[in-house]
Amino acid sequence: MPEEKNIYKPLKAKLIEVIDESPLIKTFVLIPEEEFSFKTGQFIELSVDGIGEAPFTPSSSPLITDRLEVTVMKTGYVTEYMHNLKPGVYMGIRGPYGRGYPVKKFFGKEVLILGGGCGLAPIRSLLYALENIKENLQKVILCYGSKTPEDCIYKPLFNRLNQIEKFEAYRTVDKGDDEWDGPVGVAPTLLNNVKVDTGNSVAVVCGPPVMMKYGTMKILEMGYKDEQIYLSMEKNMSCGLGKCGHCMMGKYFVCKDGPVFTYDEIKDQPNIWD
Ligand SMILES: Cc1cc2nc3c(=O)[nH]c(=O)nc-3n(C[C@H](O)[C@H](O)[C@H](O)COP(=O)(O)OP(=O)(O)OC[C@H]3O[C@@H](n4cnc5c(N)ncnc54)[C@H](O)[C@@H]3O)c2cc1C
Ligand code: FES
Repeated sequence: MPEEKNIYKPLKAKLIEVIDESPLIKTFVLIPEEEFSFKTGQFIELSVDGIGEAPFTPSSSPLITDRLEVTVMKTGYVTEYMHNLKPGVYMGIRGPYGRGYPVKKFFGKEVLILGGGCGLAPIRSLLYALENIKENLQKVILCYGSKTPEDCIYKPLFNRLNQIEKFEAYRTVDKGDDEWDGPVGVAPTLLNNVKVDTGNSVAVVCGPPVMMKYGTMKILEMGYKDEQIYLSMEKNMSCGLGKCGHCMMGKYFVCKDGPVFTYDEIKDQPNIWD
């Protein structure tokens, strides 16, 4: 009989680089011991031996299978420990889990992306996937907000995107500093100045819950329909496999049915923005 795969057993991955993105956010560059594939928007459980594990959405390209990047904000026990790790150690990867972005459904359309804070991590992976299929898209517009200029992650990404045909990228900050001469205001304010054909467009929103809520309301005001809006939901998770029930959002297991949902699918479920 073939050996049954242990779905809880992590794949070992060597940490080869740690990139400081902002005072609270670092990117971990990992080389898995075996090829590791994921679809953009799916998540993994990343673990440190003897410490614990937590769910993260890879921020690297889904086209690359021998190297994985995960961008981690320091919020508590496991993430604080991760922030002190140095290259050379091994971490564990379980997954990929859940339902990512249905990029094939974006064919022929404009893609408007609204991101805030660490929400740019899954979005960066999506942007790599969209760049790969740009011939099939009308255009891609990224609107991103961070609290301050130094809290903005992947700063070189914005110039790079603005040099790619069909791509536009804009950033704002809640509060500027002496050097900042760009827009000041929360991320959804950037939507006031974008030109989109809402009838032939989809919107993607990923960021802190309050931004997801007000961003979605603003996108609805712009004329998007509920089913045109894709939200990447974050709920406390444990197993990642639809077994423990930690991640329930109404009738859905966020780990199995999501984390990407259309607004249409979840708008009537309780506490979606908590
Ligand atoms: C599908 C998914 C994808 C995610 N992707 C990323 C990512 O790419 N980058 C990133 O930095 N973070 C991401 N997160 C959030 C990340 O999993 C949590 O920040 C992490 O689990 C916190 O672990 P901790 O032990 O450091 O904090 P804890 O000590 O467990 O808790 C610290 C605080 O964070 C809250 N918290 C704990 N777990 C979560 C959670 N899953 N979601 C939201 N809040 C939580 C707690 O309620 C508490 O207030 C994602 C979460 C999910 C569910
Ligand atoms: S995390 Fe266990 S059911 Fe979703």
